[in-house]
Amino acid sequence: MKKNPVENCFAVTAPGLEALCAAELEALGVESVEAVSGGVNFVGDRLAIWRANLWLRTASRVLVRVGEFKCRDFPTLYHKACRLPWGRFLKPDAPLSVQGSCRRSRLIHSDRLAETVQQAVNHALGNVSESRERQSQTVYARVDRDVCTLSVDSSGELLHRRGYRQEQGKAPLRETLAAALLQLAGWRPDQPLWDPFCGSGTLLIEAALWARNLAPGRHRSFAFMDWPKFHPNKWQGLLKEFASETLPVAGLYGSDLDSKMITLASRNAERAGVGDLCLFDVLPCGLRDDLPDGPGLILSNPPYGERLDDEAGVVASFKELREVLEGPCRDWRAALLVPDLKRLRKAGLKGKPLAQLSNGGLNVVLADVTLG
Ligand SMILES: C[S@@+](CC[C@H](N)C(=O)[O-])C[C@H]1O[C@@H](n2cnc3c(N)ncnc32)[C@H](O)[C@@H]1O
Repeated sequence: MKKNPVENCFAVTAPGLEALCAAELEALGVESVEAVSGGVNFVGDRLAIWRANLWLRTASRVLVRVGEFKCRDFPTLYHKACRLPWGRFLKPDAPLSVQGSCRRSRLIHSDRLAETVQQAVNHALGNVSESRERQSQTVYARVDRDVCTLSVDSSGELLHRRGYRQEQGKAPLRETLAAALLQLAGWRPDQPLWDPFCGSGTLLIEAALWARNLAPGRHRSFAFMDWPKFHPNKWQGLLKEFASETLPVAGLYGSDLDSKMITLASRNAERAGVGDLCLFDVLPCGLRDDLPDGPGLILSNPPYGERLDDEAGVVASFKELREVLEGPCRDWRAALLVPDLKRLRKAGLKGKPLAQLSNGGLNVVLADVTLG
């Protein structure tokens, strides 16, 4: 039987999530996994690429390296790019967008880089239509120190867009970051979990998807579905893999003082297929007194209060949390995603950094929180 070609791939991650994503790839049985800054290199055939897109909870997208070569002028770029195996990834009629970037190289015009690669792909395939549509295929052309790397994006929409969060509050966590926080805080599905500032419910829903062993990408489409070797039947087979490996789940509790948030969190959980696992309530943090005995984990990204006059509100929310940690949740652990530790201290709490991360472009820290 003819074997599928093995490709060099790169799972792009947000800063700080590389090691988690590498562990996820290893758990999927993927080979030559290597975490580097900004993502994870791995090697795999087309099924490994489909599986990575379907199952990775912490990656932003999966790129396939089509070619890499030294190049210091545009004619060389064009000729070398023409010879790459574009037909393995793109159909001749696929709308294509090429994104170029140049660093520390003789080639410095990223627009001309993109145009040249576009022309080379057109030449190699016949007739690729130019388009800036969102659903088009994307090729990334990067030149760094005169080495050109050409990659095709197998994901399409970013992987944090699982499809369930059609409604969201003001500062929602990316689903990929939420999945990472659960792991970084050391949550296991057999431990009760409470998000006291749950907003649109992202942390709870990601916890439930993990516990039920549901693939985060099972309800969405991917760019590779328009590649020449995509077979819907094989995809259906992949969707059934690992289906029986669910874990015992303890209670997953989410609360927020805003009733609108709880309505949309419940709807998001229903859409994700985990509405029965997530227990949402309209409740200010400090009034919670009905949780089971610990050990359990309180995990949340509380309001940040970026404006100075919000500070008092943020500290007041942390004080509510302190009261719960002193009372009904005294045998629970807590971890919060915060911009810094100073407001925790103002509320009489202590924070020990577990990970430095980025949330919506803001540097943040996941802190293990205890009474001060
Ligand atoms: C940063 S948002 C959480 C976003 C959430 N992680 C998501 O993915 O959508 C903070 C939430 O805390 C809620 N909140 C603020 N103060 C609160 C309090 N004292 N008790 C409960 N909820 C509170 C707000 O209504 C808001 O929805």
